[in-house]
Amino acid sequence: MSISKFVTMSNGVKMPIFGLGTWQARSYKIVKSYQSSKESVISSVKTAINDGYRLIDTAAAYFNEEAIGEALAETFKEGKIKREDIFITTKCPPTFLHPQKQEDAITSSLSKLKLDYVDLYLAHFPCAYGDELKPEKALHDCKPEDIWKGLEKLYEKKLTRSIGISNFNVEQIHRISKSAKIPIHNHQVELHLYFQQDDLVEVCKKYGITVTAYAPLGSPGRTSYKLPNGFQPTWPEGPAPLENPIVQHLAKKYSKTPAQILLRHLIQKGIAVIPKSTNAKRITENHQIFDFELDENEMKNLYNVAQQPRLFWQDFLIGHPEDPYKEERGKQQKNSV
Ligand code: A2P
Repeated sequence: MSISKFVTMSNGVKMPIFGLGTWQARSYKIVKSYQSSKESVISSVKTAINDGYRLIDTAAAYFNEEAIGEALAETFKEGKIKREDIFITTKCPPTFLHPQKQEDAITSSLSKLKLDYVDLYLAHFPCAYGDELKPEKALHDCKPEDIWKGLEKLYEKKLTRSIGISNFNVEQIHRISKSAKIPIHNHQVELHLYFQQDDLVEVCKKYGITVTAYAPLGSPGRTSYKLPNGFQPTWPEGPAPLENPIVQHLAKKYSKTPAQILLRHLIQKGIAVIPKSTNAKRITENHQIFDFELDENEMKNLYNVAQQPRLFWQDFLIGHPEDPYKEERGKQQKNSV
């Protein structure tokens, strides 16, 4: 079975099924040091493009749009690729999700990325805030349906070729889909071996929404994440997909690495993946997943791996009326009592 290198969105726009994730490839200063230097972000993006990557995923909240913009401008100038050859995704931060503020947000992202349009613009979360990400600044009257109306306007103004959401729950997808003029084109969520999100993927399929998996390797580097003020959040413990015995066995069988098995598993299901790396060797490694195939039985074995709770709980959303994980948090607490 040869796999298409693209998924086609309901408006006909083709999105590469494989791309570079850049969360944690940040060029902001954390107290005294940088999470990743600006140069390392620029060089990762250029390495990826030289290696054949045709999708770069970022967000205003990753603080690396400027570095990515520089890498893109240099690549275009060198004549390696043209603008239309690459797919750029970015995301509207929670403090700009109010429909009246979204155009400012996308304009700022475009200016940093040095682009006239992006290929996909996502509402980063279903929760809109005023000027700060604090429960008391939650905008109670700005529902996901309202956020969506704002995105539809950006799409109509051709500031983006497609629009979507990230970190929404199933019920919020139903609500938007009922009132939308333009359907949701893409949903980006945490998705990996131990958190395959079957129900959500099924609902997306029903509405013709393409799915992108963030943290497709289980985000092994998440514990080193720091906010600009140096704060280091704690993370739930969980088994590492890269160390799963089935994955390791398949890696040996196909002379591939565990990361390549994990990524192949997802693209073979039609789910787009955006593994993050700022390491040139791993950037190249992660892309080598189009030259082998997992058989039906192997896909089944990976599907049957016991599922675990999510890793990305986004605790800052607690207290917002549209917190997408409100019910799940309740169940988690009950289970741990
Ligand atoms: P690095 O940037 O040093 O390569 P995810 O995309 O699931 O969030 O995972 C990203 C994390 O996984 C980063 O810490 C990245 O580190 C690491 N990583 C990326 N590619 C690989 C790989 N092929 N094997 C092991 N770890 C990887």
